[in-house]
Amino acid sequence: MKKNQLGNSDLHVTQLTFGAWAIGGWLWGGADKNLAVKAVEKAIDLGMTSIDTAPAYGFGQSEELIGSVIKSKRDKVQILTKYGLRWNIKKGEFFFDTKDNQGNSVAMYRSSGKESIIYECEQSLRRLKTDYIDLYQIHWHDKTTPARETMEAVKSLIDSGKVRYAGVSNYSAELLEEARRTISLCSDQVPYSMVNRAIETDLVPYCLKNKISILAYSPLQRGILTGKITPGYTFNAGDSRVDTLYYQPENIERINSFLSALKPLTEKRAITLSQLVINWTIQQPGIASALVGARSPQQVEENVKAVDFMLDAEELKFINKQISQLELVH
Ligand SMILES: NC(=O)c1ccc[n+]([C@@H]2O[C@H](COP(=O)([O-])OP(=O)(O)OC[C@H]3O[C@@H](n4cnc5c(N)ncnc54)[C@H](OP(=O)(O)O)[C@@H]3O)[C@@H](O)[C@H]2O)c1
Repeated sequence: MKKNQLGNSDLHVTQLTFGAWAIGGWLWGGADKNLAVKAVEKAIDLGMTSIDTAPAYGFGQSEELIGSVIKSKRDKVQILTKYGLRWNIKKGEFFFDTKDNQGNSVAMYRSSGKESIIYECEQSLRRLKTDYIDLYQIHWHDKTTPARETMEAVKSLIDSGKVRYAGVSNYSAELLEEARRTISLCSDQVPYSMVNRAIETDLVPYCLKNKISILAYSPLQRGILTGKITPGYTFNAGDSRVDTLYYQPENIERINSFLSALKPLTEKRAITLSQLVINWTIQQPGIASALVGARSPQQVEENVKAVDFMLDAEELKFINKQISQLELVH
């Protein structure tokens, strides 16, 4: 699979990155660990060698599963993980209350103090069974810690060889500007899909101008853009999709009728909706990689084929017209 350079760095990531949130189970109604391992193995076998994870994804579960797969092939994969989203500490900025995979109540904090970052990095390295992280990203901005303190801590991890490059996640152009006074950043990981294009207004132009790569997360809008979600779809308990805007019954209907309008294109090209959606995503300006989640090898097999073709200008224009006609109920 083709790779793209991240910012000005020497790190190249595959056009599609394996998104490892769902395999952690948390906020996805649990996960089948055996299937998850097979999904990660399949992704690497099929050339999707960049993997994005985070400590919070299943409170260590996602990183541990990845560690079990990559230990014999570390030099073939690019590991993107995160820091700054803590549980079991009351420090930083309170984020939200949740439940862990065992159903215990947990309070999440955005916490990016120096000591916390150094601690988190050690924990991630242990779970991932590696001695370096390719890209280390702040998960969410913590307004209680000065950007300088956070970024200096990451710099010290780069100096010690534990981290290769620094990135951020969920950062606005303003936050990027502030953090870049202390450290060179190569990427910003942000939500982006056919039905969520908010970044196009300010963030994409800023990133293009400053050579910061965008890692587009939830390109399938957590599954709904595969076309498989119908009103009344049964989610496991604890699957947070039901509470999001896109999964409200009226919006499911609207998104599905938008997807029906794309069907002639999928039929003409003999591709699936997921493949069309992912291909559209990687063709948008500034996107270095689409982070695509999968829970099974079958989903991975389908998704990797999204790089085997290129939607042409006419097709992109047609898709964009359909997108512009979609209105969601807020
Ligand atoms: N930085 C952040 O704050 C942040 C936030 C969100 C995501 N991310 C990153 O971005 C990655 C991707 O985003 P995401 O996982 O939220 O959403 P996504 O990639 O839009 O959707 C992934 C989900 O869609 C379903 N799916 C995927 N391929 C499919 C296929 N071919 N057929 C049918 N269903 C399919 C699977 O769920 P089911 O089988 O359960 O339906 C899968 O877990 C994450 O894993 C994570 O690494 C980062």
